[in-house]
Amino acid sequence: MLVSAKEMLEKARDGHYAVGQFNINNLEWTKSILLTAEELRSPVILGVSEGAGKYMTGYRTVVGMVNGMLEELKITVPVALHLDHGSYEGALKCIEAGFSSVMFDGSHYPIEENVAKTTELVKICAQKGLSLEAEVGSIGGEEDGVIGGGEVADPEECKRIADLGVTMLAAGIGNIHGKYPENWPGLRFDALEAIKAKTGNMPLVLHGGTGIPEDMIKKAIDLGVAKINVNTECQLAFAAATREYIEAGKDLQGKGFDPRKLLAPGAEAIKATVKEKMELFGSVGKA
Ligand code: 13P
Repeated sequence: MLVSAKEMLEKARDGHYAVGQFNINNLEWTKSILLTAEELRSPVILGVSEGAGKYMTGYRTVVGMVNGMLEELKITVPVALHLDHGSYEGALKCIEAGFSSVMFDGSHYPIEENVAKTTELVKICAQKGLSLEAEVGSIGGEEDGVIGGGEVADPEECKRIADLGVTMLAAGIGNIHGKYPENWPGLRFDALEAIKAKTGNMPLVLHGGTGIPEDMIKKAIDLGVAKINVNTECQLAFAAATREYIEAGKDLQGKGFDPRKLLAPGAEAIKATVKEKMELFGSVGKA
């Protein structure tokens, strides 16, 4: 059964580790992530962007697929199904469809509008026992058409949103979606410390987990990050493994064209990436 992300994140915050959010795109992604979480006894959050939800034909399909897999694969670790960077309307649709967690990304609105819309969703999620992620200060890079400027969040604004009663807060600290440029100056730990000082016990979320050096990830966790989002890195691993299979001509040998064979190296590569991240985040054995 899907669970809210609240308990797993509070445990992570108190235990000084982070739970990974891994974005899903299809059946292979979902299966690889769930099997790895189960094998490593790690809690996990499956992220679904609005674009990926549409690609998978809609939120109901996603809920049906994930619930089916939890049962058929006999998954016993805590799993949350979470809307990633949702609009207000998208969040309502996911709640209706059976997601156990949603993110409302109001970071591109003026703060008053972000507060008003987040307040509404806090009420709805509380009634239904769902977790809610809010965002202050947009995150750099591009993800599914959502472009952020790499801003750093204002700690006062973070406090205003945290005090509304959200479950977790994403705050820009110089992080970017996708690959980091060569000249990226790194995470702004001064900003993270200032945000932590204002928001107290609030589990903080680090987006753009792909390509952040290990020492920075560890320091971010020490400073209060309890959830780290990873998307691009699984895509790169899947693409590289698939390329290798095709370039080796394996799709031309025997029944190598069978999608169950063709997609297998990519699925294994996703498992390896998820394992590496769960070990780095410290969530292994915490389910
Ligand atoms: P990356 O694609 O950079 O890993 O970022 C993922 C993310 O933050 C999803 O919200």
